This record gives sequence, structure tokens and C-alpha cells, in this order.
Amino acid sequence: MLLELLENALTRCSRPVRAMGYLPEAIGIRSRFRRVRDHWQPHIQNCRSLILRGMDRCSSRRKAVILGGGLLHDVPMAEIAAAFQEVVIVDIVHPCFSRWVTRKYKNVRRLAVDITNTVESLYWVSDEPEKHLPRSQPELFIDDPELDFTVSVNLLSQLPCMPMTFLSRQKAHSAKSINAYARDVIQAHLDYLDRLPGKVVLITDVERLKIDMMRRVVERKDLLFGLKLPKLGEGEEWEWQLAPCPEADPKHHFFRRVVGIAGWK
Ligand SMILES: C[S@@+](CC[C@H](N)C(=O)[O-])C[C@H]1O[C@@H](n2cnc3c(N)ncnc32)[C@H](O)[C@@H]1O
Repeated sequence: MLLELLENALTRCSRPVRAMGYLPEAIGIRSRFRRVRDHWQPHIQNCRSLILRGMDRCSSRRKAVILGGGLLHDVPMAEIAAAFQEVVIVDIVHPCFSRWVTRKYKNVRRLAVDITNTVESLYWVSDEPEKHLPRSQPELFIDDPELDFTVSVNLLSQLPCMPMTFLSRQKAHSAKSINAYARDVIQAHLDYLDRLPGKVVLITDVERLKIDMMRRVVERKDLLFGLKLPKLGEGEEWEWQLAPCPEADPKHHFFRRVVGIAGWK
């Protein structure tokens, strides 16, 4: 607890990122991982081996980019760092103790960037009812001639989450325009992955499952706001035991259905 408070105080992030709660969310992921790591293990193994298969498709290995790398639980970091000349870990926030984990890789750097390109401008219109919410136009690395490999790892469904919670709290925008923002951000990320140079791997959760003690699914929530994931047929599916009971609820598990596509592009 003390370490978490210290990390919160020591990590640098912009006012919008802090206001939307990205930092405690990231620190919370690490704490949950520590509590339920055995339950996460199959998901982590699936992610890592799918990423390695995606990496095998790269004939040239100059630069690799990990989008949503965060704490890197789900990324085979040693293998990627050994295979590529340069690796960039992109995340909206890098808790300061996470930087410690990657310090031993001399060719790995962390970039704190909002991959949707909307968070800053959304923050400034969040309490103004008459102002339109921004459209997402990700441009990072699009013109990078050295980029050979990109992984979007457990990021896609997360992109609208913190902005949506923040907007709902501000009460200035309708549920309809907040949902439209969420769909736009997800669609823009998929289009962005298509536009990137080099090979691309996509791993994302697509559905939240609420499961009772009899192992019955009692509720399903679509995490992509009705958007259909293209290339689904080329992917693999598995369950991520994200929050086994009583982690988030005394009578239910909250799991995720995950899709991984080693050859997204
Ligand atoms: C579920 S976590 C991914 C798991 C992560 N690979 C790990 O092992 O901890 C989602 C990550 O996406 C990041 N993220 C959320 N919105 C983002 C945005 N707009 N731009 C960049 N990263 C974002 C979060 O900070 C978080 O680290």
C-alpha cells in the first residue's frame, strides 16, 4: 500500500491522464496480478506464444513496437529484445517501478503516449455539453520506415474505458455520444493497425463473462460496442480468468473471452 502511494506520487503524467485515473488503474492491474497470478497463467502463456508466432513472420527485425505494453505480464520481453535492434513500449502511463523492470534491456525504451490521440482534447471538452467529442486519428509510427513488427496487446477494449467513466462522471454528454466515441476509438485503432508498416499481431478481449458458482454464464457483455472484429476466422480464442470469485464479486467470477490474431497484417 505504501509502495503504491509512493509510486502514485513519483510517476509523472499529464493532468488529463491523472484526472481520468489511468495511473491507479495500472497499479491496480499489478496488484490483481499478484493476487490471482495462477488464474492468469494460461492467458499469459497464450499471449506470449501467439506474439512469438507473430514475430516469426518478420523477415526483417529492426524496430518492434508494443502497444499497451503496460507491465508486460503478457509480453515475451526477453525474446523480443533479443530479436530486434530497437523495441518501443507504448502506454499512456508507465508507473515508475515498471521502468525498473525493463532497465536491463539497453535497446528497449518506454514511450508515454495516448494511442487514440483523443484523451487530451476530450478532457478539455468533458464538461461542455455543446462541444463535440474528439474523433480518433492515431498517427504514431505510421511513416516509420524501420518499423517491422507491432503488437497490440490487451489494449483495444481498454481504449474507451477510462474516458467513458470520466465523461459519465462529468454528466455533460449523452450516453449516445459517449457510446459513439467508444465505437469510433475502437474502429480507429483497427484501421490504424491496418495502416502500420510491417507485421502486426492483435490480442484483445472481446466479451466480459459473468459466471456463477455452478460455472454457468449468467451475463455477457460485448466489449467492442457491436463492432465485429475482422479476421476473426484467422484467430484463436481463449478464456482469461481475469477476476475469479471473490476478486470482484462474492458470488461470481468475471472472466474475459479473448481473441488473438498472430497474422493480423
Ligand atoms: C489490460 S492492460 C494490458 C496488459 C498489459 N500488457 C500488462 O501486462 O500489464 C491495458 C493497457 O493499456 C493502456 N492504455 C489504456 N488506454 C490507453 C491509451 N489511450 N493509449 C495507450 N495505452 C493505453 C493501459 O495503461 C494499460 O497498461
